[in-house]
Amino acid sequence: MGMSTMTSFKGRIIKNLDDVTPAVLEAMAQAGNARLREIAASFVRHMHAFAREIRLTEAEYDIGIAFLNRIGKATHDSHNEGILFADAIGFSTLVCLLNNGSEGASETAAALLGPFWRANSPRTKNGGSIVRSPTPGPELFAQCEVVDVAGKPLAGVEVDVWQSSPVGLYENQDDTQADMNLRGKFTTDDSGRFAFRSVKPAGYPVPTDGPVGEMLRAQNRHPFRPAHIHFLGFKKGYKTLITQVFVDDDEHLESDVVFGVTRALVGNYRRHDEGEPPAPGIRAPWYTLSYRLVMQTGDAVLPNPPIK
Ligand code: BEZ
Ligand code: FE
Repeated sequence: MGMSTMTSFKGRIIKNLDDVTPAVLEAMAQAGNARLREIAASFVRHMHAFAREIRLTEAEYDIGIAFLNRIGKATHDSHNEGILFADAIGFSTLVCLLNNGSEGASETAAALLGPFWRANSPRTKNGGSIVRSPTPGPELFAQCEVVDVAGKPLAGVEVDVWQSSPVGLYENQDDTQADMNLRGKFTTDDSGRFAFRSVKPAGYPVPTDGPVGEMLRAQNRHPFRPAHIHFLGFKKGYKTLITQVFVDDDEHLESDVVFGVTRALVGNYRRHDEGEPPAPGIRAPWYTLSYRLVMQTGDAVLPNPPIK
């Protein structure tokens, strides 16, 4: 920051309560970046209005700062408490809906990333299995199609798939699963399709051993996410599609702890108790899922992996 921009700012001695907010806004208005000026000013206006509205006490202020610091301390290479907090207060879903599906005007195919996406999922052939170590549970056969907003099939889309096991654990949370179990990377064929074999995912609690868990308990909220499979679609010229497809018979569809369920994301996981199985040796019941992923044109940018 150059001295010339700093010297033009006069500042003020704070007279009273009413002086604080304008003093901060004036100081922050010195930022050279217009978007930073807008964001910082709005953040300060809302934070100050929030403290005024609830007449925040000093003891409550202390609790809030300690909570924030504990979120930072609980975050490391294999856990992101900051994202978890944003998820648990609906902020991640809000930002997702603001930025996808005509800025929230229409139903969107997108959903929050969550903390468990890993880069470099194993490339898997179309129709192949993502079960990489014995994983007991009902078998699942998924057939997916990726299209643009006009419904035209998109070939050559790289799609990452990741999910929890039938007992509700991701491989990185469970020593009994092989590295990269229930994760795979597929490429859509000329008709925009890819298929894979897996097992039916189960719902699971988000991690509750940190400050977010404490918040959930204090609010009498359960920690569960309804069962789902995550998808990340990547193709040059298209906005990276990050989404989840929920299991339609899950008891927590309406009370997802991270508010991620929209109608468009409830899949049709069909249960089959009899008939010709889709592969030899499959025991009933097995499940099938057909799902269509819709990608908008835009920038193919990958998110930062929340864990290594
Ligand atoms: C997930 O779906 O992987 C997830 C999302 C938010 C919080 C915890 C887990
Ligand atoms: Fe998940």
